[in-house]
Amino acid sequence: MSNDEQKVLWGGRLEERPGAEAFAFQASIGVDRRLAPEDIRGSRAHVAMLGRRGIIPAESAVRLDAELARIGEELAAGTLAVEEAAEDIHSFIEGVLTQRLGDMGRMVHAGRSRNDQVAVDLRLYLKRVVPELRGELDETLRVLLDRGEEHAGSVMPGYTHLQRAQPVTLGYHLTAWAAALDRDRRRFADALDRLDECPLGAGALAGSTLPLDREDTARALGFRGPALNGMDAVADRDFALELSAACAITMTHLSRFCEDLVIWASEEFGFLKLSDAWSTGSSIMPQKKNPDFAELIRGKAGRATGNLVCLFTLLKGLPYAYDKDLQEDKESLFDSLDTVRACLRMFRGMMADAAFDTERMEAACIGGFLEATDAAEYLVRKGLPFRKAHEAAAQVVRDCIAAGQRRIAERSLPELRERSALFAEDLYAALDPAACVAARNLPGGSAPEEVRRQIRLLRNR
Ligand code: ARG
Repeated sequence: MSNDEQKVLWGGRLEERPGAEAFAFQASIGVDRRLAPEDIRGSRAHVAMLGRRGIIPAESAVRLDAELARIGEELAAGTLAVEEAAEDIHSFIEGVLTQRLGDMGRMVHAGRSRNDQVAVDLRLYLKRVVPELRGELDETLRVLLDRGEEHAGSVMPGYTHLQRAQPVTLGYHLTAWAAALDRDRRRFADALDRLDECPLGAGALAGSTLPLDREDTARALGFRGPALNGMDAVADRDFALELSAACAITMTHLSRFCEDLVIWASEEFGFLKLSDAWSTGSSIMPQKKNPDFAELIRGKAGRATGNLVCLFTLLKGLPYAYDKDLQEDKESLFDSLDTVRACLRMFRGMMADAAFDTERMEAACIGGFLEATDAAEYLVRKGLPFRKAHEAAAQVVRDCIAAGQRRIAERSLPELRERSALFAEDLYAALDPAACVAARNLPGGSAPEEVRRQIRLLRNR
């Protein structure tokens, strides 16, 4: 590429241009080309306002608007290709406009800088794609809640320290995941609410001497209003941080869910049969069926955290207002948003098809003395102080182990009474895993009825 081929908006000041490699180094067209629809929208609102305010002739505003609309359509249809040699999407579109309309095209940038232009483009883009992402979250939640409802009564071990702890249900476990994703949904909504301010009119940093109408452009673009302070509007990337954090948190959730799935799909656990469509084989071991999709989602969580750290590091120490460093904000943010979207889609496909081995899950509730807490609380209900009840139940567990028994209910009533005289016949029914679960019917508990209530609540949000 020769210097003459470089389409730049700032050629007037400089006698020399960067060489081809240096020019490509500082260009961002490869990343910001996806902002084309928003750049067109922003420019159309801007020229319409310039026309209404008499800053440019009304008929020029009409021509510019029509040409911008045409460029947008051609880009969408693929009949106009984004030029890789352009510096960024803003330069490219203004260049095409000027190529086609001559001096009229040169009017579009009055009262504007690429600094407020890129800020408005990015915010508009996020106002478009983040609601789509929330749609993906909603769909994923729906799958989790459907599967949770289906398994509200499927008893399985609940774990702490990855050691069997107390019986729960698969529905309870899946609803726990859904509750986390529901918070993620709201995090994205919060971030969207705060970024809903229009930077246009901020110019490079200090506003403009031209009689722009900032309310007009803000309204035309669907913002709540113009940003309060122009310097803040071009320097602020809080919204990128917040959304990047929302992505990193969502990915951390998905990663933890997938870790559970990987464990459940192991031969040792055998709680889950991933369908063949969501598994891969091994190039050498003929017998293998691997949970690669779950592992890859777990792995991609690292990238979302990295992207967040990248943004923080980028912003820390940046002097006000705009610095070229800010151009680096988009690549990591786009990657995080793309990653979350792809992972949500894969995760929910996998979950929709997963076959749970509920018999094996229920059988795993026997043998680890998961009913020991229930035995202790049984004694508390009969009036024993909890610490004493805990000790009596622990002794019963030790008695069982010494006698080679796998559950408390295998001990006779006289044997149990050696540890507490309060044990009676009704203990046996209370120790059944399903009964242990059903008894936990407090709000937030694991009882099937209660889990169904939690699911209803989440569905209503
Ligand atoms: N491509 C730039 C970015 O993404 C646009 C703003 C450029 N402004 C400037 N003064 N160099 O941030």
